[in-house]
Amino acid sequence: LRDRQPIVAIDGPAGAGKSTVARQVAKSLGLLYLDTGAMYRALTWLVLESGIRVDDEPSIAELASRSQIQLSTGDDPQITTRVWINDHDVTFAIRSLEVTAMVSAIAAQPYVRQELVKQQQRWGLKGSIVAEGRDIGTHVFPDAELKIFLTASVHERAQRRQQDLKNQQQPNVSLVQLEQDIQERDTRDSTRVVAPLQKAADAILIETDGLGIAEVTARIVSLYHQKLSVS
Ligand code: DC
Repeated sequence: LRDRQPIVAIDGPAGAGKSTVARQVAKSLGLLYLDTGAMYRALTWLVLESGIRVDDEPSIAELASRSQIQLSTGDDPQITTRVWINDHDVTFAIRSLEVTAMVSAIAAQPYVRQELVKQQQRWGLKGSIVAEGRDIGTHVFPDAELKIFLTASVHERAQRRQQDLKNQQQPNVSLVQLEQDIQERDTRDSTRVVAPLQKAADAILIETDGLGIAEVTARIVSLYHQKLSVS
């Protein structure tokens, strides 16, 4: 028997629908939702805001170690997570194209990962969470009861990102540009030295092309019940 409540780990590339699905799964199962990408984004926002160069690793490490990130999930379906860093509300700012373009360079820095993973593990001590990111099943919570690797084709992911940007009243970006951005980010995220995006050996792969949020959510909820009834 474990000394904590169950953990669901959801990993996968950008635009696979992870955030919406993870949030829905958390809601259906009565678990907390942890959006780890929002943490890397918040730190990236702060780096840009502070005028620190993205390759100035020592200054970024220092900034990471003295920054306080807070997350909260509300009821607004358009806002997956409310985010504060050092009391600045960055809920919307962290979704900007500037932050999105810069975040993988910062998320690749070993010290940054060490700091943020430590915080994620602290939040997960009691379990009862659905954590979503790139390295949850492989590094952050390798003993999670249920691990899901969500993916979709680059084309489908670019279309979803375009719709998201539209919903957030962000400037219009072409599909070709978005496909290229996603491809580049995938390559950076999966080839980096520290905690690359990888499917954990024991993660269940769900390919979401043509599947709606409700279908994917239902599949994960059912897997969760199966797993927990046999373990
Ligand atoms: O899921 P997202 O797009 O909000 O993630 C933002 C960036 O943070 C993305 O480039 C990958 C990185 N990330 C990471 O390296 N590890 C995580 N656990 C979550 C996100």
